[in-house]
Amino acid sequence: MKEQLEKIYENATSDLTKASCINDLDEIRSKYLSRKGEFNEIKKNLKNLSDEDKRIVGSLANEITQKLEQALKTKHEEFYKKELDAKLAKERLDVTLPGKYIPRGKVHPITSTTNEIVASLQSLGFSVVPDAQSPEVETDYYNFDALNVPKDHPARDVQDTFYTTIAQNIVLRSQTSGAQIHAMENAKPPIRVISPGRVYRNENINARKNNFFHQIEGLYVDKDITFGDLKGVLNEFIRIYFGSSRPTRFRSSFFPFTEPSAEVDVQCIMCEGKGCRTCSGTGWLEVLGCGMVDPNVLENVGIDPDVYTGFAFGMGVERLAMLKYAIDDIRLFFNNDVRFLKQF
Ligand code: DAH
Repeated sequence: MKEQLEKIYENATSDLTKASCINDLDEIRSKYLSRKGEFNEIKKNLKNLSDEDKRIVGSLANEITQKLEQALKTKHEEFYKKELDAKLAKERLDVTLPGKYIPRGKVHPITSTTNEIVASLQSLGFSVVPDAQSPEVETDYYNFDALNVPKDHPARDVQDTFYTTIAQNIVLRSQTSGAQIHAMENAKPPIRVISPGRVYRNENINARKNNFFHQIEGLYVDKDITFGDLKGVLNEFIRIYFGSSRPTRFRSSFFPFTEPSAEVDVQCIMCEGKGCRTCSGTGWLEVLGCGMVDPNVLENVGIDPDVYTGFAFGMGVERLAMLKYAIDDIRLFFNNDVRFLKQF
C-alpha cells in the first residue's frame, strides 16, 4: 500500500510537471484528490489493515495528499498570474491613442434661434399654440380675409403668394398672422399666445430674400391692453434676446390687421448707431412689425372690440438670427453647407 501511495504520488507529480494551465490543474485535482480520486480509493481500504499499519499508511497518505495540495496551490498561483498577465497584455489599452472622431448632428441655427425667441417670449407669459392649430397650407380666409386684407391687396397677387392647385382659395401661407385668427377662434380672451412657423413667398431669391422663411407671431387680447403694453413687452423681449438693453424706436407703419401699426428698429449691433454696411449707414435695424389689433379683426372672430383690445406682432426668425450672428446672406441657412452650420 505504501508503494501504491508513492507510485500515485509520483504519477501526480509527473502530471503536475506536464500541466500548462489552470484547467490541467483542475483535472489533476479531480483525478487524485476528489472523492472518487485515487488517494481516496486507497483510504477506503485502510480499514482492512492492522491498527499499526493503519497509522503508518494513514499518516503517509495524509502527508502525500498535503504535499500534492501544496504543489497544486503553488502551480495554481503561478498559472493564475501567467494567465492574468497574458490577458492584460492582450487587452492593453493605450490611453495615449487619439480618440475616434464621431460626427454629431446639431440643431439647425433657425431651430435654435426659434427656440431662443420662444423661450424669451414664454418668460414674458406667452404660450405656444399647437402647430396643428395653424397649418402652413391655409385658406385665403385665414391668410388674408379675416386679417382685414382687402381683396385687391397686392400681397394677394400670385407674384407674392403661392397658390395651390388643391383649390382656388388654398395658399401656402405668406405670413403666420393667420395664427391670430385660429387662436381667437379657439379660445376666449384673455389670450396671450405665440405661434412659430414657416411661411412662403414667391420671391426672387437673393441675399436678403428666400422663397420660404420663418416667423413668430404674437397676440395678446384682453381688456385694457394698450400700445404701452406692446412697447413694454417688445422692449423687454429685445433686451432678453440680444442680451442687453439697446435703444429701440417704434416707427409708424401700416398693416391691414393692426391700427395703429409700427415697425420696430433696434440700434445696429454692429456699429452701435454710427452707421455701417449692415445697417446701410442708418444706424438702425428693422426687427419686426406690430400694432394694436384692428377692431375689424376682432369683429371677424366675434370678439367685441368695445370690450377687448389687443396687440399683435410678427418677427422674422432668419432676420433676428442674421442680426445676432452678423450673417449677411439668408441663403446660408438653407444651402446646408456644414462649414456654416458647424459654427452654431
Ligand atoms: N405678418 C406681417 C408680415 O409678414 C408681420 C406683422 C406685422 C405681424 C404686424 C403682426 C403685426 O402680427 O401686428 O410682414
